[in-house]
Amino acid sequence: MSNVDLSVQVGTLKFRNPVLLASGTVGYGNEISEFTDLNKIGGIVTKSLSLKPRKGNPPQRIVETPAGMLNAIGLANVGVEVFLKEKIPFLKQYDVPLICNIAASTVEEYVECTRILTSEDTIKGFEINVSCPNVKEGGLQFGNDVKAVGNITEKVKAVTNKPVIIKLSPNVSYISEFARVVKDSGGDAVSAINTLVGTAFNIYSRKPKIHNVSGGLSGPAIKPVALAKVLEIRQNVDIPIIGIGGIMTWKDVVEFMIAGASAIQLGTVNFINPSASKEILEGLENYCTSQGIEQLSELTGSYKI
Ligand SMILES: Cc1cc2nc3c(=O)[nH]c(=O)nc-3n(C[C@H](O)[C@H](O)[C@H](O)COP(=O)(O)O)c2cc1C
Repeated sequence: MSNVDLSVQVGTLKFRNPVLLASGTVGYGNEISEFTDLNKIGGIVTKSLSLKPRKGNPPQRIVETPAGMLNAIGLANVGVEVFLKEKIPFLKQYDVPLICNIAASTVEEYVECTRILTSEDTIKGFEINVSCPNVKEGGLQFGNDVKAVGNITEKVKAVTNKPVIIKLSPNVSYISEFARVVKDSGGDAVSAINTLVGTAFNIYSRKPKIHNVSGGLSGPAIKPVALAKVLEIRQNVDIPIIGIGGIMTWKDVVEFMIAGASAIQLGTVNFINPSASKEILEGLENYCTSQGIEQLSELTGSYKI
């Protein structure tokens, strides 16, 4: 038995370890439960939910890139009502904190989704996606606008007592300006980062490889960008950060925590190695033991610059 304490805290949210599963990469938990013991991970973030079901973009919606993938799923999801009726019962079987990710086309829709979901006990907090690059009417349109992000944070906070995490876009010049407005508007934490806008062409047809033309780049290619964004927030704003972007191994987790993350999320790696969380947790424990670290959370923001 190891004596290492892997538990972390993100604002008022407590997790048994810092390894959460990222929105959009594990469906509603069912898709990954065969490979990952959901009773062992820190938490799970749902696919973005909208008020009404969405079909998403037409295929091709995903393409592999040299060190990651581009996706333009377009927020396909079952909608909040079906989620509550059909997906929550499955998730209730597990002892794992559930964070609901919400995407919307208007401020009112963000508020309405949160209001409907907040009475469900299984849901421990909300992650508000203001940063999806793949839908015309929503997401990034807000994520690029500091005032809009502040307004959404404030309005969503007004209808729930549960923690509200705002998921920030990296497609901006200064991400810390957005983290600051989240804090000033009452937000509990930020997630950084969502995907970076990218594209790819088929050289024979000369057409874009994805139907939406551009998509969101994720995977190892974006890790250095994500680390820089986490560090920028940490150095400028006193708000808990959930680090996301290209995490494949326990070493990546350690790096994100040193840069300032209190917890992290695994995204693209779930498509490559859906049991990654188990290996990552073992690696973190061994690292702490070998480094004489009793509490993993000591790492957060421990960079030496
Ligand atoms: C196929 C796919 C679907 C995604 N869907 C969502 C989504 O619905 N909502 C959201 O906030 N982020 C979504 N993301 C972004 C991830 O949650 C994560 O922020 C991003 O992929 C960076 O992490 P990674 O490099 O570990 O994948 C999606 C990513 C992928 C690859």
